[in-house]
Amino acid sequence: LALDDVPGPRGLPVLGNVFDVDTQDPIGGLVQLAEQYGPVYRLSLPQGSRLIVSSAELVAEVCDDERWDKHVGGGLSNIGGSGAGLFTAETGDPLWARAHNILMSPFSLPSMRDYLPKMIDLAEQLATKWERVNPGEEVDVPADMTRLTLDTIALCGFGYRFNSFYRETPHPFVDAMVRTLLEAQTRARQPKIAARLRIRAQRQAEEDLAFMNGLVDGLIAERRAQGDTADTSDLLGRMLTGVDSRTGERLPDDNIRAQCITFLIAGHETTSGLLSFAINYLLKEPAATERAKAEVDEVLGDRAEPTFEQIQRMTYVRQVLDESLRLWPTAPAFTRHPLADTVLGGYRVPAGTPVSVLIPALHRDPAAWGPDADRFDPDHMAAERIAALPPHAYKPFGTGQRACIGRQFALQEAVLVLATLLQRFELIDSRDYQLRTKMTLTVKPEDFHIQVRPRGRTL
Ligand code: HEM
Repeated sequence: LALDDVPGPRGLPVLGNVFDVDTQDPIGGLVQLAEQYGPVYRLSLPQGSRLIVSSAELVAEVCDDERWDKHVGGGLSNIGGSGAGLFTAETGDPLWARAHNILMSPFSLPSMRDYLPKMIDLAEQLATKWERVNPGEEVDVPADMTRLTLDTIALCGFGYRFNSFYRETPHPFVDAMVRTLLEAQTRARQPKIAARLRIRAQRQAEEDLAFMNGLVDGLIAERRAQGDTADTSDLLGRMLTGVDSRTGERLPDDNIRAQCITFLIAGHETTSGLLSFAINYLLKEPAATERAKAEVDEVLGDRAEPTFEQIQRMTYVRQVLDESLRLWPTAPAFTRHPLADTVLGGYRVPAGTPVSVLIPALHRDPAAWGPDADRFDPDHMAAERIAALPPHAYKPFGTGQRACIGRQFALQEAVLVLATLLQRFELIDSRDYQLRTKMTLTVKPEDFHIQVRPRGRTL
């Protein structure tokens, strides 16, 4: 069977299926189409055909790095400033390989020990803020989690403090970043001619980019002035001194700048969404909360500064986070293409055709997860359950050589923060929150407020 035979919604001529993709809730819309059309379906978009896959069997095919590669396209390739950053670079770009080789070590699990004091610094700022909330007042969970994760990646990344907990409105860098991302997405959805007409937005995007580049260039220049080896405790220090072991080459400054901006973009909203979803699920599952709290009390007691080893020991807290990423993977899709003409699910797929893995649908496949696949249950993530899964049934961090380089970073930060909150607070579902999600580049709970009460205090 040919590509055109793949089932999918019937589109309008020229515009294809643009109206089938719900712009408010694109992922929910795509998941519904998967329920209707099955594990592989086709969308016809102004840019051409795109397949959407969601069964473990088909996902295993497209994850084969020998025959398939990451497809850089859509909203991401439009983010000019980080064009050469790890996330948006083509796998064949020599600078991708060089940066990947240099950065693997600073992002490895043993290196996480070095970032822990800085992560604790920000976790403490969050806890201090929540301790000072008056009884009956609410906290905005996703907003505070975004303050936390943005400040954490900036401090561990390049020693910069956004001081988001001391601001009512976001730091100007964040405004510039969010505008850039939204503009990139808008352009990606439009035919090229319409995108070219967005002259004012284009000018704003150029200004935003210049502002972001200027801030990071300043930090790099400052470091160079101090001497490259003055501070290697953060990612910037390691990028300035790092050498690609295969070629002996270093990273050029403009690429280091692109990597810094990439880490801010890739590293903060995803982790912030993860923490917000985890808190939402814990509020609704008191038994899981009690178990997580018991583990935190046993491992940490009332110790304020968890060690690297203690973080590793909190395996149930980690399962809570893994399970949140199963039901709501905060980077909900990644896209691949075959290197040569191939066959997928019985259909001929020409080389280069984009095929998106729809992670929330994959993660709820009853064939892999059982009849209660839709239920939040951290036991789904117990080691023996994971070992029994079909390969590629769980992909919140993407796949193969293009998988998330920040996975250990995100998980250490998330375990630390969730454990700190469980250790110190009762989390109160004051509005009986019903989960609604909102998508910008990543997915987050929308309008999610709770009350918090320091543990042991009765009011
Ligand atoms: C790549 C998810 C946290 C940096 C990816 C990909 C996914 C992902 C799905 C693959 C994208 C693709 O194939 O197109 C997540 C999730 C996170 C998270 C769910 C948090 C819960 C982070 C953090 C950082 C980071 C904290 C940096 C500090 C990156 C980079 C890439 C990437 C640089 C591109 C890697 C490459 O292609 O060489 N992430 N991420 N991510 N992520 Fe993450």
